[in-house]
Order: sequence, then C-alpha cells, then structure tokens
Amino acid sequence: MEKLVINGGNKLFGEVRISGAKNSALPILSAVLLAEGEYLIKNVPQLRDISTMFKVLDSLGVTAKQIDNDVTVINTENPELFTADYELVRTMRASVLVLGPLLAKRSAAKVSLPGGCAIGERPVDLHIKALAQMGAEIDVEHGYINAQCKKLKGAEIVFDIVTVTGTENIMMAACLADGKTVIKNAAQEPEIVDLARFLKKMGAEIKGEGTKTIEITGVKSLNPANYTVMPDRIEAGTFLAAVAAAGGNITIKDSPVWAMNSVIEKFKEIGLDMDITDNTIVARMEQKPKAVDITTLPYPGFPTDMQAQFMAVMALSEGLSVITENIFENRFMHVAELKRMGADIKLKDRSAIVKGGNKLTGAHVMASDLRASASLVVAALAADGESQVHRIYHLDRGYEKFDEKLKFLGADIKREKE
Ligand code: UD1
Repeated sequence: MEKLVINGGNKLFGEVRISGAKNSALPILSAVLLAEGEYLIKNVPQLRDISTMFKVLDSLGVTAKQIDNDVTVINTENPELFTADYELVRTMRASVLVLGPLLAKRSAAKVSLPGGCAIGERPVDLHIKALAQMGAEIDVEHGYINAQCKKLKGAEIVFDIVTVTGTENIMMAACLADGKTVIKNAAQEPEIVDLARFLKKMGAEIKGEGTKTIEITGVKSLNPANYTVMPDRIEAGTFLAAVAAAGGNITIKDSPVWAMNSVIEKFKEIGLDMDITDNTIVARMEQKPKAVDITTLPYPGFPTDMQAQFMAVMALSEGLSVITENIFENRFMHVAELKRMGADIKLKDRSAIVKGGNKLTGAHVMASDLRASASLVVAALAADGESQVHRIYHLDRGYEKFDEKLKFLGADIKREKE
C-alpha cells in the first residue's frame, strides 16, 4: 500500500493537462461488446478502474491493450461468455455497465450484483426494471443478476430517479433492440453525450442525448469505430479546487469547459479569478475563498463528484457554507478526516455546515473513497506542515498521475510505501 506525504503551504504555478474522462471511457469500453471487430479508443486515462474494466472485458473474451492513452480493443464474438464475476464487480461498481450490451448482443448476461459502497447503498434496481420492460427475463440469485432475452424490444422507460449508468445501460441495450426505445427522465451528463457520439459512430440511431428524453431506434447490427474520449470535467474541477485552496496561478489545458458551467460558476463566486478560452482555464487565487453554499444535483447541477473537494476549499473560507448532498445518502466520509486537520464542520441530515476561519494543520488522514481522497489532498496542500494521506489506492482508481501533476505545479508531495 502507498500513501502521499504532503507538506502544505506551497502555492501552485504552471501548466497542467487534463486526462480523458474515466466516466466516459468506462461505458465506451463496455459498448465494444455490441459489435465484433477492432477498435482504437484514444485519450483513455491510465487508471485502476480502467484496468479493472479490461479484466472484465478479458473475462468476456475481449482483449484490450493500452499504450499510453491509446487503447486497442479486439472483440471476437464469444456468445458463450456472459458472466461478470463478483471478484471484479466488487472492486468496481461500474462493471455493471456490461449488463445492457451483453444482453443485447449475446442474449444473456450474468453480472454480480454490486454491493453497497462507502458513499451509500447504490442499488441497480432501475437498470433491472428497465431491461425487464424491454422483454428480458431477469432474476437475482446467489448475488448475481441473471438476465436472458433472445431479442430485446424497444420500450418507453421512465426512470424514477436520474441514474447515469442506468441511462447508459439502457441506451446501449436499446441500440440493438427491436423498434424504438424512449428514455424519459434520462441523465443529461456530458458522459452520456460522449457515449452517444461513440455509439452513433458505430451506426446507432440516437436522438436527444444531453436532454431529459433520449430516443433510440434499434438497428440490426453495429460496426466497430475509433473514438477519442472527452476530457475529465471532475479532474479539471479538482485542479480548480487545488489552486483555490493553495493559492497561485495555474493553466489547466484540455478542460471540457462546455461541461463545467455549474462548477465554474461556484468557483467564480468564491473569488477564483478565471480566464477561459476554448478548452483552457487560467485560474488565479490571491485571497481567501469566500464562503458559498452548494447543493449537489444531477447534471447540469453541481456534481456530487466535486462535493468533497469543494468542501475542503470551504474549510479555508472566512464564512459559513452549507453543503447539501442530494445524490448519495452517505457521501460525507471525508468530513471526519477534514476535522482531524482542524476543519470546523457539522453534519445535519443531508447537509454539512462548514465554518471557515480555522487554520488547517497537517495530519494523518485516511481516504475512504475516490473523491474523498482528492478532497484530503486539496486540504493538505493548504494545511500547515506535513500531512499523510493513507489508502491512496482510491485516488489511483480515478486520477491519472495526480501526485505527479501536482508536483509539477510546485506542490511538495511524494508517494511512499506504507
Ligand atoms: C455515476 C458516476 C459517479 C457519480 C454518479 C452521480 C460513473 C461510472 N459513475 O454513478 O461517478 O457520482 O453517477 O453523478 O459514471 N439509484 C437507484 N437505483 C438504481 C440506480 C441508481 O436508486 O438502479 C440511485 C443511487 O443510489 C443514487 C442515485 O440513484 O442515489 C444516482 O446514482 P447513479 O446516477 O446511478 O450513479 P452511478 O451511475 O452509479
């Protein structure tokens, strides 16, 4: 196991380049199950979650080879392989993304039911219900989702709750279904749009991606396609948080600015000075952040995946900030650790009340999930003295070379063995 040792207090200066989006790459890599052949997927980040997806694909007879950020995928049709094993799904919930494509292409899927995780219960009942509406026979037995269907049928799916991977699973399944599928109350996340663009390159007929209603007309077959994954809006947002906390002046290249409105607006409100051109953000912070409130919501609202990092910044502000988490019931695991660094935070129902003004001091802290780890690093950059962030394997699931990038910007950060 590894940890990060950070000496706080260095301002950040220089240039950083944002990697490809994990949450886009994962559904795109699952979508290759929909058509036999060879694919070249570019701008795929080198991350633990991506290698887990490669293992899932490998167990389904699909080989993926990554050289830097280019991934070559070869899918030779293996109708007899349709199981995503517990051992893989338990390390990455997003493995459930193979459910829709497997069922649509191989007429069967056996996917381990993801368990709860540090941020909440996270069921996949809505994925299952929607696939059943499309004609699949589904039962859950011995911890596995067993689904079968000779040919899925188009249906009208109305999601009770906005679900990102749920929308993606149904979108992929519907591409090869008989007739038209209409997804209502669909997730509008930019990663949905990216997946739809890839599926269209494969020959899918999709309309309305990026809005609440997506229409997919099934086609007989799809073809392999090459694609470049969009950049990661959460990584870009995390660097905004880092400079807002530590101070300095950084240039964030390859930022998906078009997908970052709510985040950019909030950072403006706290006093981060930004010049934005095309896909570059120059961000300067020369003062203490102002306290503002945030409420996490499905896109285009403020993303839950930025909540923890924003909280670290609010711990350094001068006022009172109320942070309300509406997506996951338990996504406040970072609060106790931020408090160990001196932050004044109280939890009440779904809100964290953050009273700024305290000096943060370096401490040993434990990462509990991916974004919580990032928030602890952000806090440590601004804290007085040395912090040690333990269990950083969470961080390596979702941030490509995070410590190297921060070091390049002038942070005093090193990776050490526990
Ligand atoms: C995706 C993202 C994750 C992000 C989350 C919310 C990927 C790989 N992961 O996760 O980074 O934090 O969106 O933006 O893209 N729900 C149900 N039943 C279901 C499905 C979801 O009750 O069948 C609930 C969840 O418990 C949660 C809410 O719906 O409270 C939203 O979850 P969802 O959008 O599905 O999250 P993921 O797709 O797993």
